[in-house]
Amino acid sequence: MSSPKWWQTAVFYQIYPRSFADGNGDGIGDFAGMTRKLDYLQDLGIDAIWLSPHFPSPFLDCGYDISDYTAVAPEYGTLEDFKTFLEDAHSRHIKVVLDLVLNHSSDQHDWFKASRSSRDNPKREWYVWREGRNGGPPNNWASIFGGSAWTYDEQTGQYYYHAFLKEQPDLNWRNPEVKAAMWDAVRFWLDMGVDGFRLDALATIYEHPDLPDQTSGYAAEEILDANAFHKDEYLKLLEFQVRQPGLHELMQELRSLVDEYSGDRVLIGEDEDVAFYGTGNNELHLLFNFPLVNVPKLTVQHIRANQAQRLTALPPEAWPCNTLGHHDISRLWTHFGDGSNDAALAKLHLALLLTLKGTPFIFNGDEIGMTDLELSKLSEVKDSAVLNQYYLLTEKLSITPAKALETVLATTRDRCRSPLQWENSANGGFCPADVSPWLPVNKNYATGVNVATQQEDPDSHLNFCKRLLSLRKTNEALRTGDYQALHNDSKTYLAFLRHDKQAGQSCLVMLNFSDETQRLSLDLGANSPNILMSSTNRKEESLSFETLELAPFEILIAQLYPLR
Ligand code: NOJ
Repeated sequence: MSSPKWWQTAVFYQIYPRSFADGNGDGIGDFAGMTRKLDYLQDLGIDAIWLSPHFPSPFLDCGYDISDYTAVAPEYGTLEDFKTFLEDAHSRHIKVVLDLVLNHSSDQHDWFKASRSSRDNPKREWYVWREGRNGGPPNNWASIFGGSAWTYDEQTGQYYYHAFLKEQPDLNWRNPEVKAAMWDAVRFWLDMGVDGFRLDALATIYEHPDLPDQTSGYAAEEILDANAFHKDEYLKLLEFQVRQPGLHELMQELRSLVDEYSGDRVLIGEDEDVAFYGTGNNELHLLFNFPLVNVPKLTVQHIRANQAQRLTALPPEAWPCNTLGHHDISRLWTHFGDGSNDAALAKLHLALLLTLKGTPFIFNGDEIGMTDLELSKLSEVKDSAVLNQYYLLTEKLSITPAKALETVLATTRDRCRSPLQWENSANGGFCPADVSPWLPVNKNYATGVNVATQQEDPDSHLNFCKRLLSLRKTNEALRTGDYQALHNDSKTYLAFLRHDKQAGQSCLVMLNFSDETQRLSLDLGANSPNILMSSTNRKEESLSFETLELAPFEILIAQLYPLR
């Protein structure tokens, strides 16, 4: 591969600002805390940070409801604190990518306040307002977070559209003034030196202007899961609300804007549709491979089929991008655990993420094996998407409060958003003992799931993750090599090669997804492999391909010489 771009070889680490590090001891993460933890991140070995929204917000959707696009949430600090964080990250060679929420603002944004103040306000057309129909909403469109996508505004007698919560009105992207204002915000951060953006909810930016009723038969009262906007099968139900004409032109325009800046700024789309790569270099640089992770469990057949499908679907110059955990789904450890072999499975999945072809994204806390937070009371839930669902389940669908609570606790996105566990001390060292963190800290900080304890233990999940990151950093085949699946018939282990012809490197990756020893032989010609990493601490330096044994859940990564 000829001179890869930084975002192709980087490992990204997603910081959820509210939960990462609390610098001023108020129970809420902030920039002072994040800046202090940059040494930790540098030592971990990540290359870039994706920062979930850090803008002023009423926090009804945890910051994805923005009330000012060019400022910093006071809870998190000031613009000066942001600049310090950015400079300090850059001085450690860590890039910083921000979250860009184009689809909607908060209903508390001055733009929306003006827009809803009267029908002839100059900002009225900045949002999507329509007349009702037969005493109800303009059509049968549904909000992804449940209920109708339209909310009636008493003062002006019209409905406004929202693909998500009613407190997140959709901006009207067909209005050039909206586009100009948003591009100004983009330039504001690019001028400050940020390295790019992760684009939130891009599929919903445009809706069909004629408002045809959905024909899918999906009723607004039905509940999609809180992660529905990552799932193609759900998006298809909302046929006139997602992926409407105009989106590709918009992405091209944004790409041209970003390309005016030096330093290869990157655009990462929260969407799986490879069409948003455009030709491969005229729309988005990276799109998440959500089909890989959106399954209850990963099987070797699923992974293989996913790679075969995804890698061939990409336009020629496009680069893949994988994630196995983020702020909207269950934590990697919990999601892929089986209750008996969780530690081994978490390592196996981390190894998969860091050896597949493509830019990997790690969610903060997954490096120490944080697990889902278990809440028991509705009053503890902060995720408004599921609170809205609770209301619909109990009020509109007559589900009993106990059953509705069970559903909500099992699906709330709060599960993966609990504060990072830094130490074995009260509140996991996230905030002082006498302060209540914004979400409870998972109690397992006291049983080894914390950074400080794991730093001391060479066999910890954290140190395993560090070793993987350092291996990837120094191995061109793992960073940029092609992917070639081996032993396609196996149902228990995954075997693949990563080749980098230019660097003359080739790497064999073997991941045993079963709890049984696998005996196999590989026909790889004259290669004599050197072990680079083995989760079972193999003593031998080189392997025999004729009689290879993989221990239960073993991770085995080997260098091949000479290159085939
Ligand atoms: C996708 C984000 O990942 C999610 O957290 C948010 O609720 C929705 N977009 C709406 O902004």
